[in-house]
Amino acid sequence: MLNQDASLSGSITIGGDMAVNRLGFGAMRITGDGIWGPPKNLDAARATLRRVPELGIDLIDTADSYGPYVSEDLIREVLHPYDGLIVATKGGLTRLGPSIWRPVGRPEYLRQCVLMSLRRLAVARIDLWHLHRIDPAVPRDEQFDAIAQMQKEGLIRHAGLSEVSVEEIEVAGSFFPVTTVQNRYNLIDRKSESVLEYCEAKGTGFIPWSPLAAGSLARPGSTLAEIAGRLGVSSSQVALAWVLKRSGSILPIPGTGSTRHLEENVAAAGIALMDADFQILDRQGRAAAQQSKAA
Ligand SMILES: NC(=O)c1ccc[n+]([C@@H]2O[C@H](COP(=O)([O-])OP(=O)(O)OC[C@H]3O[C@@H](n4cnc5c(N)ncnc54)[C@H](OP(=O)(O)O)[C@@H]3O)[C@@H](O)[C@H]2O)c1
Repeated sequence: MLNQDASLSGSITIGGDMAVNRLGFGAMRITGDGIWGPPKNLDAARATLRRVPELGIDLIDTADSYGPYVSEDLIREVLHPYDGLIVATKGGLTRLGPSIWRPVGRPEYLRQCVLMSLRRLAVARIDLWHLHRIDPAVPRDEQFDAIAQMQKEGLIRHAGLSEVSVEEIEVAGSFFPVTTVQNRYNLIDRKSESVLEYCEAKGTGFIPWSPLAAGSLARPGSTLAEIAGRLGVSSSQVALAWVLKRSGSILPIPGTGSTRHLEENVAAAGIALMDADFQILDRQGRAAAQQSKAA
C-alpha cells in the first residue's frame, strides 16, 4: 500500500518565503451541488477537512464564492488557528445561484472580498490571495492596483491570478509580484502549457485546478488503465502523479468532500511514474486535447 503523505510530493516556495508541500487540497467540493449552499453531508466534509493536515497537506485552496462563504466558514470552524497550514483564498467572483459565477472587479468590491475573507477565516492577513477572474468590464489596471494596495497595507501576504494568459501575468507583475497562477490544467487540458512554461522560467508557482481529469484516456483497456493496473493504483491517481511529475513548479489542489478520496489523492504523491509511462501519457494527453479542440 502507498504511503499517505503529501510531503512525498516535494516542496515549493511561494513568493520566496513560504515553503509548502507540492500537493495541496481544493476546498470547493465541501459545498452543495453547483458549489452552492452547505454540503449534503456536513459531517463528511468536516472529517475530510480534519484529515487534511494529518496527511501532511499544508496548503488549502478556497474562495469566498464557494458556497458562497460555506467553504471558508467550514475551514475556520474545523481548522482554526491553522497551526502552520496555509489557507489560500480567492475573490472577485459573485454568485447568484448554483453554478452561476459572475466576475466583479471593481476595486471597492475586491477590497470588500479581502476584508470579509479575513473575518471569515479569522486571520489578520491572508497568506495567499488570488484574483478569481479578471473582470472584463473593469480596467484591469484598476484591479491590479487594488491588489497592490491591499498588499502594501498588509492585508495580503502573497497574491496570484486565475485563468490568465502570459500577457496578463506580465501586466499584473508591474503592479505586484505574481507569486502563483491558478489555471485549469490536467492530462487532457493543455491550453495553459505556455503559461506553465512561463511560470517555470520565472519561478512562479503554477496551481492547476481540475488536476484529476483524464477523460477517455481512463477508459477500460487504455494505456492509463494498464499503467494503473500494473502499479496497483487507480486511474485518477496516475493522472495526478502525471501532473506532479510534469513540473516541479506545479502544486495541484485536487478537491473532494470524501476522506477516502482525499487519502487516495495524497497517496498519489508516492507514485514513482516511470519516464516511459510519463511520456506515453503526455503524448496521448496532447492528442486528446487536440481532438477536443478540433471537435
Ligand atoms: N481558480 C479557479 O477558477 C478554480 C476553478 C475550479 C476549481 N478550483 C479549485 O481547484 C480544486 C480542484 O478542482 P476540481 O474540484 O474542479 O477538480 P478535481 O480536483 O480534478 O476533481 C474533483 C472531482 O473529482 C472527484 N474526486 C476527487 N478525488 C477523487 C478520487 N480519488 N477518485 C474519484 N473521484 C475523485 C470529486 O468528487 P468527490 O467529492 O465525490 O470525491 C470531484 O467531483 C477545487 O477544489 C478548487 O479549490 C479553482
